[in-house]
Amino acid sequence: DQYTAEINAFSPANADELEAFRIKFLGTKGLIKDLFEEFKTVGPEEKRVFGKVLNQFKQMAEAKYAELKEGLDSGLKTQDLGLDLTLPGDGFEVGSRHPLSLVRNEIIDIFKRLGFVVAEGPEIEDDWHNFSALNFPQEHPARDMQDTFFIRKGDGSDDIALRTHTSSVQVRMMESGKPPFRAIMPGRVYRNEAISARAHCFFHQVEGLYVDENVSFSDLKQTLFHFVQELYGEGTKVRFRPSYFPFTEPSAEMDISCTICKGDGCNMCKYTGWVEILGCGMVDPNVLENCGIDSKKYTGFAFGMGIERITNLKYVIRDLRLFSENDVRFLKQFQTDI
Ligand code: PHE
Repeated sequence: DQYTAEINAFSPANADELEAFRIKFLGTKGLIKDLFEEFKTVGPEEKRVFGKVLNQFKQMAEAKYAELKEGLDSGLKTQDLGLDLTLPGDGFEVGSRHPLSLVRNEIIDIFKRLGFVVAEGPEIEDDWHNFSALNFPQEHPARDMQDTFFIRKGDGSDDIALRTHTSSVQVRMMESGKPPFRAIMPGRVYRNEAISARAHCFFHQVEGLYVDENVSFSDLKQTLFHFVQELYGEGTKVRFRPSYFPFTEPSAEMDISCTICKGDGCNMCKYTGWVEILGCGMVDPNVLENCGIDSKKYTGFAFGMGIERITNLKYVIRDLRLFSENDVRFLKQFQTDI
């Protein structure tokens, strides 16, 4: 009875006290063990009564120990960390991909399915790769300080610049390999423009190049037509207008039927129903020769588009500056699973 009272009243302050309790009553040299030893020595008559009491006592001690241990375990955690682990946790914010990355990846995926590989090159370029090899005459206005960020070297010369397009990567690819080439070149490019809703001093391009025997203008048209159906949906119309680029001949610009108003006229397409999305053409034989490729044997097409423009038309974004301001309210709208 004395022990029963002691066990009932027991309330450990910490794990050490509880352990002492266990050793005292339940341990291999504990009180209960001793009592069972004693039990062996009593007569058969007493055994019946004593055995019953002893078993009850043992069970009661074990139950008390289990109960205290559980209480102490959860209590300890709470005490140690100074917080309640049973409270629901704080949610944390998951980031989102930048819309330009989303659209760039989508463009890459479409061309990959057509067998195009991805090629990259430096953002700081020399005159040869950005201009000369691409058939830009020495006095071409695009070389002007107006458009190009030149980098002046110590000796005063300035044939190094921030690339103005990723056509420079096409040159590098053709110079360092053998046809056939079938590649796209995503990357950042720089132009010296005043920053506004419609222009920025840098933007992103995906250019493409396909050089092989017998590549024709109809290959170009079909490839780009397919691209537009994949990106903007079946039924998007395309039209080609003659244009001029030093590195392609013939050259064209491609328009698509406005993805916003479906051709009915809205201010995104300036009420014409059409929006221009890229420049393209057959690679000028001079460019092939500049890169060491036999222009009698090989022909090719090239195209180039601005990812910002493609993205604007996909998500109805009207101000280029949003892409580089890192405003979370803007970026969060592009939350995806990937
Ligand atoms: N390089 C051109 C630009 O930056 C785009 C283009 C690429 C046009 C290939 C035709 C062919 O504007």
